[in-house]
Amino acid sequence: MNRTPTPLTEPADLLPLLRACDLPVGDIAPGPAQRFFGLRGAGGCIAVVGLEPSGALGLLRSLAVAPAYRGQGVARQLVAYAETQARALGVERLFLLTTDAAPFFTRLGYAALDRAAAPPAIRSSAQFAGLCPASASLLCKTLGAAAPGTQPLQEAAQP
Ligand SMILES: CC(C)(COP(=O)(O)OP(=O)(O)OC[C@H]1O[C@@H](n2cnc3c(N)ncnc32)[C@H](O)[C@@H]1OP(=O)(O)O)[C@@H](O)C(=O)NCCC(=O)NCCS
Repeated sequence: MNRTPTPLTEPADLLPLLRACDLPVGDIAPGPAQRFFGLRGAGGCIAVVGLEPSGALGLLRSLAVAPAYRGQGVARQLVAYAETQARALGVERLFLLTTDAAPFFTRLGYAALDRAAAPPAIRSSAQFAGLCPASASLLCKTLGAAAPGTQPLQEAAQP
């Protein structure tokens, strides 16, 4: 397994893993507004994370690790990577919805908040508006400033 995340720009790269992990795929459209990063193994994508930047706010989504690669810190690494990318894009607060991984994210500094407190930009995302069950928890993390000179990786890879 290559442990360096790379941009995933083709839906076919990430859909099989997301489907296998029962995560929503109805709105998947990689591009500047929906950036995906992942790790590849011999059989294709073995881990993925998504980022939807919207000004100073962002939505972290589609975090999935293939069962054979779990428990090795891969998800933690991908979340940290997505946060670095988010900071480089000017995102200051990162939100996410999860049905059963809230404890995983709270250990990474995310805090639960009432869905009613979600800003409009987050509330209008497809994940929030319908793809994630109403029972999914909303979590949020305030990101620190980007390291000087950090450039978002996918800027160059996207049209
Ligand atoms: C959740 C998920 C991404 C974790 O991937 P991972 O690579 O195994 O995670 P890491 O190795 O970085 O971290 C493992 C730690 O997180 C904990 N953890 C994993 N899944 C968890 C969950 N659902 N709830 C709470 N803690 C969890 C593990 O117990 C482990 O703890 P430890 O470090 O004390 O041993 C993976 O289980 C997965 O793909 N699940 C299905 C999809 C999903 O639920 N995605 C999250 C919502 S978008």
